[in-house]
Amino acid sequence: MKHMLVTGGCGFIGANFIRYLLEESDYAGRVINVDALTYAGNPENLAGIPERFSGRYHFVKADICDPETLSGVFDAYEIDAVCHFAAESHVDRSIVRPDAFIQTNIVGTFNLLQLARKHQDRMVRFHHISTDEVFGSLGESGFFTETTPYHPNSPYSASKAASDHLVRAFHKTYGLPITISNCSNNYGPYQFPEKLIPLMILNAVEGRSLPVYGDGLNVRDWLYVKDHCHAVWRVMQSGRDGETYNIGGNSEMENIRMVEMICDLVDESLGTPAGSRRDLVTFVKDRPGHDRRYAIDFSKIQKELGWHPAESLSTGLRKTIAWYLAHREWVDRVKSGEYQEWIREQYG
Ligand code: NAD
Ligand code: TYD
Repeated sequence: MKHMLVTGGCGFIGANFIRYLLEESDYAGRVINVDALTYAGNPENLAGIPERFSGRYHFVKADICDPETLSGVFDAYEIDAVCHFAAESHVDRSIVRPDAFIQTNIVGTFNLLQLARKHQDRMVRFHHISTDEVFGSLGESGFFTETTPYHPNSPYSASKAASDHLVRAFHKTYGLPITISNCSNNYGPYQFPEKLIPLMILNAVEGRSLPVYGDGLNVRDWLYVKDHCHAVWRVMQSGRDGETYNIGGNSEMENIRMVEMICDLVDESLGTPAGSRRDLVTFVKDRPGHDRRYAIDFSKIQKELGWHPAESLSTGLRKTIAWYLAHREWVDRVKSGEYQEWIREQYG
């Protein structure tokens, strides 16, 4: 791998991955980051990278639903590996407006597969980033394994499931060298504050109410984003062709406990002039089709590739809260319309 296309590299996980790849990993080639800069894409997530890695980092503002522009990127940069993060990623948005999820997650992935196939002679690896949500919801016990049947319940997870099937089909039918990873909920620096953890951190800091859906007893398995990046790179380097790998954090937590933990850690950092931030918790109407529990069995990647998460929930959450407290400017810009205007001025 010398010319790696990373899609969605200005988003939360993609940006953390590019930082990891260039700053810390043993990857010696270049990164071509293709991102459409939707509301979730933020070039500031890669601040400093274009300057420090000017020969090895290239940014192209493009939509993966535009095959012509994508084709130009594959030709111009002689793409020989793909790490595909770009997606519409927020379940609540998929419930209100599923259209973009079908386009980006399914049609966009299909476009990338077609181009990878066209250049199959030089394609070393097509790695597809997916989610544990494709497996549906668990009861009180059990874990998702790589052989758990797909049972997606939201337009988001259904669109990701469709893209996973396309990727696998391109391997079986055309012999495209693929790997897929299905990961649990990520958290950490640069996450857009619509997802549970950054939303609750910022609302707690600002003294706003903390909206917990339903009874708050839904369970998610949390993984620190850098652990996910390590895992993806391990799979890209040494994963077996055509295989899928589950990635999890070994950190199951009920939402209400998670929110209380965040409140206590923010109290610890900022003090409690207005009383415990736990008082800000408000139970609100449940999300339709809300999956009850996700939990991952990641023994396959552990046994085959020697990966396991380095952070515990407690260490990862402390790091994440410290990051959001230290990056108020980033937060203010991401949350303001001014930021979107700036993006339009910079990139058209
Ligand atoms: P994100 O929403 O933060 O970022 C998505 C990025 O993709 C943004 O930079 C956006 O501009 C870009 N993008 C969206 N549509 C595009 C298009 N049509 N063309 C080009 N770029 C486009 O998402 P994330 O949380 O970083 O998730 C990245 C990937 O990881 C997704 O595929 C998601 O399904 C998967 N995933 C996420 C989690 C999680 O907890 N966040 C867990 C498991 C898997
Ligand atoms: P989210 O971060 O949206 O990730 P996902 O839906 O992909 O798991 O939500 C995580 C959990 O937190 C999920 O069970 C929904 C719940 N949730 C709330 O209770 N309140 C909120 O404001 C949000 C955004 C999520």
